[in-house]
Amino acid sequence: MVAVVTGASSGIGREIARALSVRGYELILVGRNEKELRRTAGLLDGPSEIRTMDLTKKESRDSLIEEFAGADILVNNAGFGIFGDFLENEEGSAEKLVETNVIAMEHLFRGFLRNMEERGKGRILNVASIAGFLPGPLMASYYASKAYVVRLSEGVREEMRARKSKVTLSLLCPGPVDTSFSDRAGVRFGLKGMSATKVASYCVPRFLKGRFYLFPDWRTRLVRPFLHLLPSSLLAKIAMKVQRKKS
Ligand SMILES: NC(=O)c1ccc[n+]([C@@H]2O[C@H](COP(=O)([O-])OP(=O)(O)OC[C@H]3O[C@@H](n4cnc5c(N)ncnc54)[C@H](OP(=O)(O)O)[C@@H]3O)[C@@H](O)[C@H]2O)c1
Repeated sequence: MVAVVTGASSGIGREIARALSVRGYELILVGRNEKELRRTAGLLDGPSEIRTMDLTKKESRDSLIEEFAGADILVNNAGFGIFGDFLENEEGSAEKLVETNVIAMEHLFRGFLRNMEERGKGRILNVASIAGFLPGPLMASYYASKAYVVRLSEGVREEMRARKSKVTLSLLCPGPVDTSFSDRAGVRFGLKGMSATKVASYCVPRFLKGRFYLFPDWRTRLVRPFLHLLPSSLLAKIAMKVQRKKS
């Protein structure tokens, strides 16, 4: 049984890889930082291979989809955020964010799903965020990218249901998690972050049972129903107050 995990060089991806390894999966660890991918490999109980690649490169994604056409699992996790006023975000970094969180995520999702549908089995986990359910002033591109992951997954899930797909799809929506995410995004969390280990131990057993929504943080499980009740304009105002404290 083979599981491909993107963003396996740190944080949530590394811990999900560890949790899958304990359950007997052979891991394919994907990321750009070879040294850290090797570190992840060293933490695993079972076999693994490393694929060092920048997922914003289409050729890299194509080769991954082709090489692992028989994979049992895709954990579509690689992603990052950028903090700051939309007008002050460096153009290059905002573009890279969309290429990673949206374009690469969608390409891998479609490529692996197509192969799994042909074989009539497989599991895909798309990593979104609670940010995908809110407008996100001062992290607008990141929140919007995660809303894309949420809506894309919800829509495709319905298509899969309609064709009685044997493949399962899950959507991981963490709140704040203590990883290198905040340093890379240049932000401080307003709430205490969960550990990536706890996120993985909540997520992996439910993912392997085919559960769709996965909210590992009890605080976001509590808040989420109210997000649908409040108008977006009010949510944006509240989010702005919270985000201002993060700089
Ligand atoms: N931490 C949080 O609070 C939080 C909350 C909700 C959702 N999330 C989501 O969880 C996912 C994992 O984030 P994390 O918290 O674990 O942060 P992290 O520790 O910074 O991990 C991000 C991973 O993504 C990989 N990555 C980024 N760009 C890449 C690219 N172009 N090509 C290949 N790999 C790339 C990084 O690998 P390399 O550096 O080796 O390329 C790294 O392994 C992200 O999608 C993030 O949006 C995080």
